[in-house]
Amino acid sequence: MDWGMKNRMSRIFRSKNGRTVMLAVDHGYFLGPVSKLEEPRKAIEPLIPYADSLMLTRGLLRNCIEAKHDIPVVLRVSGGNSIIGKDLSNEEISVSVRDAVSLNVSAVAFSVYLGAEYEHQTLINLTRLIDNANEFAVPVLAVTAVGKELDKRDARFLSLSCRIAAELGAHIVKTYYCEDFEKVVKSCFVPIVIAGGPKLRNELDALEMAYAAVNCGAKGVDMGRNIWQSKWPVAMISAIRSIVHDNFSVRKAYALFNSLKK
Ligand code: 5RP
Repeated sequence: MDWGMKNRMSRIFRSKNGRTVMLAVDHGYFLGPVSKLEEPRKAIEPLIPYADSLMLTRGLLRNCIEAKHDIPVVLRVSGGNSIIGKDLSNEEISVSVRDAVSLNVSAVAFSVYLGAEYEHQTLINLTRLIDNANEFAVPVLAVTAVGKELDKRDARFLSLSCRIAAELGAHIVKTYYCEDFEKVVKSCFVPIVIAGGPKLRNELDALEMAYAAVNCGAKGVDMGRNIWQSKWPVAMISAIRSIVHDNFSVRKAYALFNSLKK
């Protein structure tokens, strides 16, 4: 791996354990003012000290995040769809690698939609993005999107999506946790991080999911709603960190969450 690429990867994944707590706040690119991110600056700023990187769009970055922060950025570079549009999978590359580099990013993120109407378009665009990003030594994180069909979150579908993304050259893959998750991790030869998905019933469920994922071999989380839609987002991200970085059990992490929420 090129030095620049290695250096960028090492900004995202902590050297002590190769793991990461990425904070995902890119949802507005197709969801608009999603609940609890209506005022992004207010929601994101207090969480920055607890995140290993921020995943977001260039509009959010340029307008709502102070440039003084020493936090690695994973820039969302796909878009062109919306929650009210005809097909969520109809995404294209929405940011040039040149602009991403001008924002000093540590990686770029792009969604692929397997089994969807625009599968081919998203996969070919992923390879184009990777060709371009490789020239600038910028890692590409492929998001294995499921669109509105959350029932696609099983090991068979996610193994297929993750492996294809890795085979096409993605440097990091982001996917969903599912039953038999170790199968997904085993058959994907690049680091996997998990999304949280829609807000779960309670914080304990989200901690259990993060714990199970890292214990199956995920290199961490790229989590959004289960952190910033919690009533206690700082307590929640701290508890997630304790699992990812300090090997806390779910019980200990939940106790930490409860003590911090006070
Ligand atoms: C949207 C994304 C989000 O970043 C991703 O879903 C992570 O956030 P959450 O934990 O809220 O699911 O990639 O396509």
